[in-house]
Order: sequence, then structure tokens, then C-alpha cells
Amino acid sequence: MLYGEKTRLRPPEMTDLDNIMAWINDREVTRNLAIGFWPLSRKAEEAWLAKTVEGSDPRNRVLVIEDLQGTYLGSIGLHDIDMRSGVAEVGIVIGRKDYWGKGYGTDALRTLLRFAFANLRLRKVYLKVFGSNARAQKSYAKLGFKVAGRLKEHELKEGEYEDVIYMELFRDELK
Ligand SMILES: CC(C)(COP(=O)(O)OP(=O)(O)OC[C@H]1O[C@@H](n2cnc3c(N)ncnc32)[C@H](O)[C@@H]1OP(=O)(O)O)[C@@H](O)C(=O)NCCC(=O)NCCS
Repeated sequence: MLYGEKTRLRPPEMTDLDNIMAWINDREVTRNLAIGFWPLSRKAEEAWLAKTVEGSDPRNRVLVIEDLQGTYLGSIGLHDIDMRSGVAEVGIVIGRKDYWGKGYGTDALRTLLRFAFANLRLRKVYLKVFGSNARAQKSYAKLGFKVAGRLKEHELKEGEYEDVIYMELFRDELK
């Protein structure tokens, strides 16, 4: 278990399936995610969760975000982990909309990044965020992420072609 100031991160369990199904087909949540283009069945999500719980893919690691009382909030992960270059992509979702904008996402990400930089000795993390996702960009900027580039009208989202922004953060830049 990794502890932050407002959140803690723990390994996923199959019992998280109901919590995930509560938001996985909510467009308001998923429109900001790469997965958000097609509704997902419980069976499909169960298969994804089973693989994630097994944790056999060393390049992709996912943890569940809880508040300090143990309430499920969402998930966070490192993807395409490249231990040779010391670089990974980071992704986060707070599925509980009533917890948005209250500092939980920033705290969870800081907690994962501290671990990734100190324990995994990653050198840099990066992420992709939609141009319209101001809340996420603000959270990332607070942690020290800088814009690395912007791909204009890059991805189809809700019928519109959206900009995709790449942001990156080196180990000694984390705030
Ligand atoms: C993105 C996400 C992880 C951020 O976590 P969070 O707990 O909501 O964010 P935080 O409260 O830590 O930080 C957000 C900041 O943006 C501000 N903010 C909130 N709503 C905003 C909005 N609509 N526009 C701009 N800023 C906004 C908050 O006030 C806060 O800044 P502050 O601490 O200076 O007040 C979370 O909102 C989420 O999971 N959203 C849905 C999925 C998603 O977008 N995932 C990221 C994909 S790249």
C-alpha cells in the first residue's frame, strides 16, 4: 500500500468490479480517457480486471485509488514502462465524480510518482491529455508537468476532432 496525504494506492482485486462498472460506461468520466469510444460489457471489464489483478505484465502496472477511509475512488497506472530508458506513461481516473476537484487526483498522482521515481528509479514520466480537459491539465501542471507538444485535431471525441497534449515530468521536477 502506498500512502499519500489524502489517498492511498493498493493492488486491484476482483471485488473492485462493481466499483468499476459504476463509472466505466459514464460518458462524463470516460470521454476524457483513451478507452471512452465504445461501451464495455461487464464480461469485457472482468477480463481486463482479471489480467490486471494477476499483474503478470511487467510493462503495465495498475493500482486502485482509495481515500484514507478505504472508499474506492478510481485507478492509476504506469504503462509502457521502459526500465532501460527509465520512462513510463502515466494514466489516472477518479471514477467517483463527487470526488472531482477536491485534490484527490493530484495527491494520488504525486504518491505514485514519488514511488516511481524513488523505488523504480524512473527518470521521467509522460502522459497524454485532451486539449479540452482543463481540470486534468491543471492537476498535472501543479505537480510540475510541462507541455512537451500538442497534436492538433488528433483524436475523434464525441464527434469532434480534439487536440492531444503530451506532458512530461523529470524526476527532480516533481512538486
Ligand atoms: C483528472 C482527474 C484525475 C483530476 O483529479 P481531481 O481530484 O479531480 O483534481 P484535483 O482536485 O487534484 O486538481 C484539479 C485542479 O483543477 C481545478 N479544476 C477543477 N475543475 C476545473 C475545471 N473545470 N477547469 C479548470 N480547472 C478545474 C481544481 O480547482 C484543482 O485546482 P486547485 O487545487 O488549484 O483548486 C479527475 O478529475 C478525473 O479522473 N477526471 C476524469 C478522468 C480524466 O480526466 N482522467 C485524466 C485523463 S488524462
